[in-house]
Amino acid sequence: MKSKTILLLLSLLFIFCFSIAVFGKDTGKSEMILGGGSKGNIAFPHGSHQQTITDCTSCHNLFPQETGSIDKLKNEGGIKKKQVMKQCQKCHREMKRAGEKTGPTKCSGCHDKSLTR
Ligand code: HEC
Ligand code: HEC
Ligand code: HEC
Repeated sequence: MKSKTILLLLSLLFIFCFSIAVFGKDTGKSEMILGGGSKGNIAFPHGSHQQTITDCTSCHNLFPQETGSIDKLKNEGGIKKKQVMKQCQKCHREMKRAGEKTGPTKCSGCHDKSLTR
């Protein structure tokens, strides 16, 4: 009886720690507006991408998980202008070619001059 109680408590502790490790992580905003220069800004659904893509590094390989990190790196010359954009388009194009549901590949599908941030 006693060892069963200990086992139960240990399991609960494990589930608790596991939940923090998995769900307690900062995943950032679900919706955001990215700066797109002269073509207009971009409404970017961060949350839905995290659900369909799951691998954070498919975007965060180029910039850290911090608000404004893309603009900061572009200003400092750490990444080139449109470098992030090319990565976004690459995935959308490849999935489109494979016949899968994906995001826009045309300029106007992402850029919208009426979007302010
Ligand atoms: C499809 C691309 C993409 C994927 C995949 C992605 N992110 Fe992001 N993430 C972004 C962009 C774009 C920004 C905004 C950067 C900026 O403001 O310059 C961002 C910003 C963030 C921020 C900063 C807070 C905020 O709200 O601005 C956090 C934290 C973050 N991401 C966490 C994650 C985690 C954790 C994952 C994986 C579960 C993930 N991201 C997957 C594109 C992505
Ligand atoms: C999948 C979405 C997407 C598509 C499609 C897209 N863009 Fe972008 N664009 C972005 C994002 C995100 C940024 C900001 C990050 C960066 O500069 O890489 C951006 C940035 C830009 C910038 C600003 C660069 C700077 O820093 O001055 C210009 C100009 C631009 N895009 C033009 C275009 C043109 C022209 C097309 C069509 C041929 C196009 N974009 C298609 C997402 C997209
Ligand atoms: C690894 C693949 C991948 C990358 C990288 C990626 N996307 Fe997407 N994107 C998707 C998929 C899949 C969808 C459609 C399903 C969904 O909404 O999650 C999508 C949908 C979208 C949509 C349409 C949302 C809607 O409501 O119609 C926009 C806008 C978009 N992506 C912008 C971006 C921008 C901007 C980036 C780069 C910062 C980016 N995506 C990077 C796979 C990707």
